[in-house]
Amino acid sequence: MTPRSRSQLRGRSLLSLNALSAEEMLYLVDLAIELKRRKVRGGGRRNPLLVGKNIALVFQKASTRTRCAAVVAACDEGAHVEYLSQNDIHFGKKESVADTARVLGRMFDGIFFRGFLHETVETLARHAGVPVWNGLTDQWHPTQILADLQTMKESFGHLKGLKVAYVGDGRNNVCNSLMVGCAKVGIDFVNCCPEELAPAADVWSLAKVAARQNDCRIHVSHDPVKGVRGANVIYTDVWVSMGEESQFAKRLKLLRPFQVDMAMMKRTGNLADGKAIFLHCLPAFHNHDTDVTRKLGPLEVTDDVFEAPFSRVFDEAENRMHTIKAMMVATLT
Ligand code: CP
Ligand code: NVA
Repeated sequence: MTPRSRSQLRGRSLLSLNALSAEEMLYLVDLAIELKRRKVRGGGRRNPLLVGKNIALVFQKASTRTRCAAVVAACDEGAHVEYLSQNDIHFGKKESVADTARVLGRMFDGIFFRGFLHETVETLARHAGVPVWNGLTDQWHPTQILADLQTMKESFGHLKGLKVAYVGDGRNNVCNSLMVGCAKVGIDFVNCCPEELAPAADVWSLAKVAARQNDCRIHVSHDPVKGVRGANVIYTDVWVSMGEESQFAKRLKLLRPFQVDMAMMKRTGNLADGKAIFLHCLPAFHNHDTDVTRKLGPLEVTDDVFEAPFSRVFDEAENRMHTIKAMMVATLT
């Protein structure tokens, strides 16, 4: 772990992975692994790292993992957290985002934002004067990918040289960040999606440049059979992201052939050797226990894959807390 990365991160915001070097990203993943061990040993209780820090969570969209991970991460290390939904404050309605940012920045040490437009988190970061972290916008979901990389490292012992196949909506926030994150740490990446849901040109070129710099391959495949061959990680996300609900019927039709099932996992060619895992950022439509799946059945992943021993989705969810904690500790101390 290099002290240089630690000092370079102090005081910085995290709006997308584009702003992090590979070294900084790997540093945050390793710090999360260390903080996870430390939590088991009760380290946070003996020597809390964020005592006296106040953190605001400004959330425009619903969240289970990101919100709870941030609250527990901060509280573990002695910080205080205030949750502010957009209905609780004047955010963008009676007060501009820039003014809210300046007010919150006078009171809080860091602001964790979840919302719609990426420009909103950029405005917050420009005006707050304290670190602002992106907990998901329509375009990016950087803290999710730190947890995904931690889970891959814990599963395989290394990141460089792995192959990740993301299967599904190839242009959403999770896929965008995963593409850039993998390319930065030297993971081969296939974006396996319908033609209509291919990545946006600007995001694609960012990921392409990162892949070239880090000596790994990245490509788009519209074939859910060939696309997943050789993958160590099959990763999927919901077919309809928050804010895109009007697209539901269209997406079901487009994405049905991209459902992750056991046959797809086997087509990686790595399952039998224990060299393939399944990841999903969650929440997932995998069984008949939600309002949607009671009517339609499983969507992006079948229940047997979701519940299989090679599915690491709950380690991945837990790692949200350790990586968010690492980000807070690295940027606030
Ligand atoms: N993966 C994730 O961001 O989950 P939440 O929407 O529950 O925060
Ligand atoms: N792409 C999903 C991710 C949820 C964590 C969404 O934006 O709704």
